[in-house]
Amino acid sequence: MTKPNNFPILPNDENILGIVGGGQLGKMIALSASKAGYKTHLYCPKGDNPAEAVVDKITNGQWDDYDKLVEFSNEVFCATSEFENIPSKSLELLSNKTNVVPSSFVFRCAQIRSKEKEIAIKSGFCAPKWFLIKNADDLISSIRKMPQEGILKTNSLGYDGKGQLKIDKNSNFFEAWENLGSVECVLEEKLEFKREISLMYFKSLDGSDGFFPLSENYHENGILKKTSAPANLDTKIATDLKTKTKKLAQNLNFYGVLAIELFELLDGNILFNEIAPRPHNSFHWTLNGCNSSQFDILVRTICGLPVKDVDCNGKWEMTNLLGQDINNMDLYKDQNYILHIYGKKNVKANRKMGHYNRNIS
Ligand SMILES: Nc1ncnc2c1ncn2[C@@H]1O[C@H](COP(=O)(O)OP(=O)(O)O)[C@@H](O)[C@H]1O
Ligand SMILES: [Mg+2]
Repeated sequence: MTKPNNFPILPNDENILGIVGGGQLGKMIALSASKAGYKTHLYCPKGDNPAEAVVDKITNGQWDDYDKLVEFSNEVFCATSEFENIPSKSLELLSNKTNVVPSSFVFRCAQIRSKEKEIAIKSGFCAPKWFLIKNADDLISSIRKMPQEGILKTNSLGYDGKGQLKIDKNSNFFEAWENLGSVECVLEEKLEFKREISLMYFKSLDGSDGFFPLSENYHENGILKKTSAPANLDTKIATDLKTKTKKLAQNLNFYGVLAIELFELLDGNILFNEIAPRPHNSFHWTLNGCNSSQFDILVRTICGLPVKDVDCNGKWEMTNLLGQDINNMDLYKDQNYILHIYGKKNVKANRKMGHYNRNIS
C-alpha cells in the first residue's frame, strides 16, 4: 500500500487501520475505529493482549521481527502505536511502507526523559531542576547541586513509576544508581506540588487541531489512581499552556493525540513533567464525559478528518482498577459506575485491569 496523499481516508474494506501494541489502549483505539467504520489490523508480540478480542486481523510478532513488520505495514494505510516504548527502529521500518502517526521521531523524543525535557524547555515550558547522569562522576557532581530530596529516574523505559528511586542527602547514591542498573538516568529535584494536571492536544493530518478540557490527577506509588475533569485553572495560565503546547507540537511536527503531564506548584507556577504521544490514562474519562473520546479523536486525526476543541458534558471522575481492586463487588452494584474492564487474563497487583467513570456534576 502506498502512502495516501489525499485526506480524509474514508472507511471501506480497503482502508485498514494498523494498531501497534495489544494493550488496553490498543483495544480502545480499535473499538473507536470500528465505531467509525474502519477495519483494524493489530501488530503485537504473543501474550496477554486485550486488544486481540476486538480487532479484525492480528499479526503476532516480536518488535524486531522485521519481515513480519514489513508484511503488516503493506496491509495498512496507517499505523499508530499505543506502546510508548516500541523500538524506534521498528517504527522507522513501518514508515517506509505506510503512514506512521505520530512519527518515529516523536516516539524517540518521548522515550528519552532528557530529550523530551529539552524540547519542552525550548518550547517555553519550565521543568523541575534536573541533571543528566551518564556515569558516577555525573552523579557525585549533581548530588552536590541538588536541593534536598531528589528522584533518580532511568532516562528511558520507565512507566507507572517503574525505574525510579527517591533519594536524599543520606541515601547511598551509588547503591541507588546500581539498583536502577547503572544505566543513563536523570536526577530531578523532588517537588512539593499542589496537584498534578495533564492536558491533551490533538492535530489531524488535514491540519486542524484542538484540545480536551484539562484533567487533574492523583497518583499513588507512581501509578495514576484517580482523575477528575474538567480541572479548574486560571484562564490566562491555561491559554499560556496551550500556546506552549502548540509550539512543542510544532517542534515535533506532531500529528495524533499528545498528552502532557504537568505539576502545579504551591505558588501557582506550572512545570513540565513528561509527554505521551498516544491516548493517556488521565483522559479515559472522555469515553463517557465527551461526545468524542480521546480514542475517537485519535482515529479522526490519523484519517485526516477535521477536528476541533472538545467540550465535556458535566464533571467526571475516572478511577483506575488495579489487580487488587478488581474483585470488589461494590463496583458492580451501581450502574452509575461506568465500567471499562480490559479483559486481561493475568491479574496482578498494581497491573491496570480496568477503570470506571462516574459523573460527579
Ligand atoms: N520531580 C518529581 N517530584 C515529585 N513527584 C514526582 C516527580 N517526578 C515524578 N513524580 C511522581 O511520580 C509519578 C510518575 O513519574 P513520571 O515521571 O510521570 O514517570 P512515569 O513515566 O512512570 O509516569 C508522577 O506522576 C508524580 O506523581
Ligand atoms: Mg508519568
